[in-house]
Amino acid sequence: MDLSSYFINPEPALAGKSALVTGASSGIGLASACRLAEAGVNLKLTGRRLERLIELKSALLERFPKLLIDILATDLAQPASWDQLAQAGFYEVDILINNAGLAHGRDKVETARFEDWQPMIDVNITAAFEITRRIVPGMLSRGQGDIVCLGSAAGIYPYEGGSVYCASKAALRSFCQILRRETAGQNLRVMLMAPGMVETEFSTRRLNSPEAGKAVYAGMTPLTENDVARQLVFALSQPRHVNWDELLLMATDQGWTDKVVRKNA
Ligand SMILES: NC(=O)c1ccc[n+]([C@@H]2O[C@H](COP(=O)([O-])OP(=O)(O)OC[C@H]3O[C@@H](n4cnc5c(N)ncnc54)[C@H](OP(=O)(O)O)[C@@H]3O)[C@@H](O)[C@H]2O)c1
Repeated sequence: MDLSSYFINPEPALAGKSALVTGASSGIGLASACRLAEAGVNLKLTGRRLERLIELKSALLERFPKLLIDILATDLAQPASWDQLAQAGFYEVDILINNAGLAHGRDKVETARFEDWQPMIDVNITAAFEITRRIVPGMLSRGQGDIVCLGSAAGIYPYEGGSVYCASKAALRSFCQILRRETAGQNLRVMLMAPGMVETEFSTRRLNSPEAGKAVYAGMTPLTENDVARQLVFALSQPRHVNWDELLLMATDQGWTDKVVRKNA
């Protein structure tokens, strides 16, 4: 029996490619930037917190001095930011990690505040869609590109008290599915990464309280940002004929978006 074809490492290297990572100043975006850097990918990193981006750039360059790393601090809720990214050449990349996003509040629709809804719509939907719209033509004309969108389990299994957040991630999922159909056969890979509970700054910011944010993960073992980043780089490292359309990645303790098994609870 000839097994030789099973032992050839089929994973093409990512080294030398370029990636735009939105929301690289913390959590999943930061971890993804680190993993991509480790794989030799040149990076364009955005977020609003300039200090964080400066620190991240210098820490990455210390480890990987040959990489090209650009940073741009901008608020993606502001349409002017999309032009700033264009002027800085941030759309000329091989890979887009459409990660910037947020949740505000856990209120039911009847008591929710529009001020909480608007930023989720602006960043999770409008900015994610528009950045993709601006990047896709270049990828198609260069004959290659990879787009990974950070959806959420909440976009697949919505839960009470998550109305606009869940809806924003469902919208992103739908957008990815359509883009995937529209571009099939053109060497563009479109992937939706849909994690469940990941312990980052997400819940602290959502609930506007470190204690309440911490309590979300009490008694259970959530995913870490590294768990998600590892999957993301694995998906990108597949041979080009392999497209991970979507990945629902859950913590073992989370059986459904609203079923979390906690010890001592
Ligand atoms: N944590 C979870 O349980 C979980 C589960 C499923 C999906 N997700 C999704 O994963 C993505 C990353 O979340 P995370 O958990 O890593 O949370 P995080 O630590 O709070 O990171 C969110 C990132 O988005 C950026 N961002 C937020 N609003 C922005 C704006 N207006 N303009 C520019 N950048 C903005 C933040 O940067 P600045 O604050 O510096 O602007 C930060 O880098 C989000 O799309 C989230 O919905 C998270």
